[in-house]
Amino acid sequence: MTAVLETDHLSLQFGGVNALSDVSMQIGEGSLYAIIGPNGAGKTSFFNCLTGYYRPTSGAVRFQGSEVTGLDAAKVAGLGVRRTFQNIRVFPKMSVLENVLAGGHLRATSNLLSIVVASPGFRRTERQLHEEAMSSLEFVGLADQWNNLAGDLPYGMRKRMELARVLIADPVVVLLDEPAAGVSSVEREELSRVIQRIHDRGTCVVMIEHDVDLVMEIATQVTVLDNGRIIASGLPQDVRTNPDVIRAYMGRDRK
Ligand SMILES: Nc1ncnc2c1ncn2[C@@H]1O[C@H](COP(=O)(O)OP(=O)(O)O)[C@@H](O)[C@H]1O
Ligand SMILES: [Mg+2]
Repeated sequence: MTAVLETDHLSLQFGGVNALSDVSMQIGEGSLYAIIGPNGAGKTSFFNCLTGYYRPTSGAVRFQGSEVTGLDAAKVAGLGVRRTFQNIRVFPKMSVLENVLAGGHLRATSNLLSIVVASPGFRRTERQLHEEAMSSLEFVGLADQWNNLAGDLPYGMRKRMELARVLIADPVVVLLDEPAAGVSSVEREELSRVIQRIHDRGTCVVMIEHDVDLVMEIATQVTVLDNGRIIASGLPQDVRTNPDVIRAYMGRDRK
């Protein structure tokens, strides 16, 4: 198996707290890889280490075989490792299209568009970027919303807009931090379909998700974290019936 993303004995400490302990994971090309576990298990911290937001205390992160441990977030994003955040990040006063365009660049700052407009290369690529943003919106089923204010979109649609924003960068791998959290069951279906289509087109997907049913339905591989450690990893059906997992996770309140 070729690993797109791989960690080797990754550990992360905050003061006395071991957010991650000795986490070794291989995320294979073409997988739809789910990471589950109770709140505080270390899932978001793991994403932060993979994407350069946190520097691990020890251990290594490799992307397509090259070590990227300690690279800053913009560089990692530039390599094609794109993510969404657990807390939605939207520019509410910008249009849906402008929010997606913001994903075509490395730094999504609030004055991003002014930077883009001012840059010399902008005019040449404006049309192309626009087309890519529209096709990303089409991909997530939001093409008809392009000119609406992002702040006016219902929550579930904002989550899909975030997916369009990572897709415009033509990523090698996308990391989705609880893509379906807090959305209606109808929107969850939509999101699930879009995530599967991202996977179907050949992009590797890593997903943190609370909704175990959704995970079991679409994931090709599941890893369970508890207290910063891997307690199980494998095919969804094997993980679901693992007694350690049932004890640590499924048997207790997930919120
Ligand atoms: N920036 C931080 N500073 C201090 N502690 C943190 C920080 N980020 C995460 N933690 C701690 O690390 C542990 C794992 O958190 P997190 O990765 O957010 O878990 P999850 O996403 O699985 O709910 C928790 O105990 C949390 O309080
Ligand atoms: Mg989290």
